[in-house]
Amino acid sequence: MTVDIFEVNRIVEKYRKKKGALIPLLQEIQSVYGYVPKEAIEVISRELSVYPVEIYGILTFYTQFYLTPRGKHTIKVCQGTACHVMGGKEILEYMADKLGIAEGGTTEDGMFSLERVACLGCCGMAPVVMIDEDFHGRCTVQKLQGLIDSYRDEKAK
Ligand code: FES
Repeated sequence: MTVDIFEVNRIVEKYRKKKGALIPLLQEIQSVYGYVPKEAIEVISRELSVYPVEIYGILTFYTQFYLTPRGKHTIKVCQGTACHVMGGKEILEYMADKLGIAEGGTTEDGMFSLERVACLGCCGMAPVVMIDEDFHGRCTVQKLQGLIDSYRDEKAK
C-alpha cells in the first residue's frame, strides 16, 4: 500500500524551524495516518537532516507510536496488578485467541488491534478492557465474546 505523503510534507514544513520538535511532528503524522508510515520517516530524514535511526529510536522507545496501520478498533487489555489478580492474563489470552492475533497485532480485516496495557486507572472494576474510548469492567470471557461480536455486527451493517 502506498501512502499519500502530501500531509507529511505539510506537517514537516510546519515544524521545519522548530527546535526539538521531532516528537510533536511524529505525533501529528500519527494523528493523520493512524501510524507513522516508513514513507514519512524517509521524508523527515531527508527534509530535516535527521538520521532514520534517530527517528526509529524515538518511535520504538515511546509506546504511543505505531509503525504499522492500526485496526478500526483498538482493544486494550489491562495487565495491572488488580486486573492480573482478577484474571486479566486469561482475558488477554482469550482475546488473542478469538481475534487470531498476538498482542500488538491487527486482524487481517483491519477491524481490531490488540494491546496489553498497565493500569487503566479503574482497578475497582477489574478486570478491565478498553475498546476505543469505552471502558468495560468486571470482564468475563462470555461478556467479551458478545462485545466483540457486536463490533463485528456493526461492520456487517
Ligand atoms: S490494574 Fe487494571 S485498571 Fe488498574
